[in-house]
Amino acid sequence: MSTKHTSTVIVTGGAGYIGSHTIIELLEQTNYNIVSIDNFSNSNQDTFDRIEAITGKKVLNLNVDICNLEALELAISKVKNPIGIIHFAAFKSVPQSVHDPLLYYHNNLGSLINILKICQQLQIANFIFSSSCSVYGNVEKLPVTENTPFQKAESPYANTKQMGEEIVANYTKSETNFKSVLLRYFNPVGAHPTGLNGEYPRSRPDNLVPYITQTAAGILQKLTVFGGDYDTRDGSCIRDYIHVSDIADAHVKALNYLIENKQKEATSIFNLGTGNGVSVLEAIKSFEKVSEQKLNYEVGPRRAGDVINIYANNDLVKKELNWNPKYDLDAMMLSAWKWQLNLGK
Ligand code: UD1
Repeated sequence: MSTKHTSTVIVTGGAGYIGSHTIIELLEQTNYNIVSIDNFSNSNQDTFDRIEAITGKKVLNLNVDICNLEALELAISKVKNPIGIIHFAAFKSVPQSVHDPLLYYHNNLGSLINILKICQQLQIANFIFSSSCSVYGNVEKLPVTENTPFQKAESPYANTKQMGEEIVANYTKSETNFKSVLLRYFNPVGAHPTGLNGEYPRSRPDNLVPYITQTAAGILQKLTVFGGDYDTRDGSCIRDYIHVSDIADAHVKALNYLIENKQKEATSIFNLGTGNGVSVLEAIKSFEKVSEQKLNYEVGPRRAGDVINIYANNDLVKKELNWNPKYDLDAMMLSAWKWQLNLGK
């Protein structure tokens, strides 16, 4: 694409795992000018070099804490023609949120409210919010559709997403010129297919796939499978793993959907999952196959707060956004492994 757009899309948390992959897709699929807002509280400046290595494009990042409204207003006042905001910036560790709930409520909700105030001040009409399948809690009927009623949030993190969705929906209702999409991610995994960008855990990872790749790389000694006695086909928990580039692609489609006024409701909600439930042991098998090595793991006790079994019905997002996940489980694991090898041991 040759001519550059005069409108800007603001991506909060642009140095983060899903934010950076979304910036790559936006740069490759659209002509919008992209500005990131990230204070690197759980990410790294090098991400922008990696984005440039993949796309050949430099991205401007505004290093401000979104919870500081004055600093945010000042930084955003310099952005030309903001047309939409994709709001990723948030904390996302379930166990950390149980340990320090105030940190999660302050950061995840404070930043969301400030970003919506900016939308109101500058009359920015298009908004995408990073939500999570954790909003559903422990449901009775699978797969979950967007209409599956929420159960109690299993963690303060999940509660910030339930409350965040409501805040966005309430605000959307109150403004005539404002539209929003809530994207409920299932389990984003994998890395850019080049292996040049991926998840960058700053400390010991909590999530399964970085734990697997770091164990295979010898950084961690052994993976523990949290629970082998659940009522599932092999006793381990079931999740809907989805490639991060497929998640990123859905954001580009959601943004175009809003900008082109195709939405049927002021707030649209979509599940972002492949629709396939995969057990922890099946994920490990896939990793062993594509990396051609045995993983050091053992089946251990259950982890507190784990949902047993959850996967998506993704009919709505396929139909409305014309989105289809491209990567299967093996491709997710292979890209994650390529990224780990690239990061080094
Ligand atoms: C959780 C949230 C999700 C959130 C994500 C952010 C729920 C249902 N899901 O994902 O919404 O976006 O955190 O981090 O609350 N496992 C092991 N050993 C390990 C690590 C994980 O067996 O060392 C297992 C877990 O028990 C689970 C699966 O792997 O069954 C996936 O775990 P994880 O990657 O941590 O993600 P979720 O907890 O599903």
